[in-house]
Amino acid sequence: STATMKHIYKAGAQPDAPTMLLLHGTGGTENDLIGLAEMIAPGAAILGVRGNVSENGMPRFFRRLAEGIFDEEDLIARTAELGSFIDAAAAEYGFDRKNVYALGYSNGANIAASLMFHQANVFKGAILHHPMVPLRGLTLPDLTGLPVFIGAGENDPIVPRRETEELASLLSGAGADVHMHWERQGHQLTRTEAAAAAAWYKSQA
Ligand code: MLT
Repeated sequence: STATMKHIYKAGAQPDAPTMLLLHGTGGTENDLIGLAEMIAPGAAILGVRGNVSENGMPRFFRRLAEGIFDEEDLIARTAELGSFIDAAAAEYGFDRKNVYALGYSNGANIAASLMFHQANVFKGAILHHPMVPLRGLTLPDLTGLPVFIGAGENDPIVPRRETEELASLLSGAGADVHMHWERQGHQLTRTEAAAAAAWYKSQA
């Protein structure tokens, strides 16, 4: 079945430009991270997606029982749904499925991490702003060489420091090349964190 998700697509400046998959935080939309993507990866194609779950009218990518406590069954199903949607969008718009970077914040970073926990080669790279450990007890696929930027807050009230470190070590343990960037502005995605992500992305190219 074809997964339908509300989205916006913008072609890249060059046919071989990467595609930035934009995944918003709770209450966001497919448009939220466009400015960030243009700053991090100028000229990239953009696929901004809106989460299919509504929490009191706030879009999310999967259900939660409480803040930081996820509905794992829904998370697993929504992860597969998003994966199918990316595949279908690549076929529809003609972008290279093998050249997709995830750019996610908070809830969107969590489903991006979940995709990496479930599928090898789902992304060319990933920029995760304030992610959590999406699921525990999984055997991760081989992520050898996968470049991952994690931006986090030492004093993030939603994501404890040890949880960020746990995610980094799970991804590194599967072979990913994880770069950590720490801020002290709680759960916010600050300009300096965005600038650090942009510098990291540039260093990949
Ligand atoms: C989540 O539910 O994914 C996390 O608590 C982050 C958020 O508030 O969206």
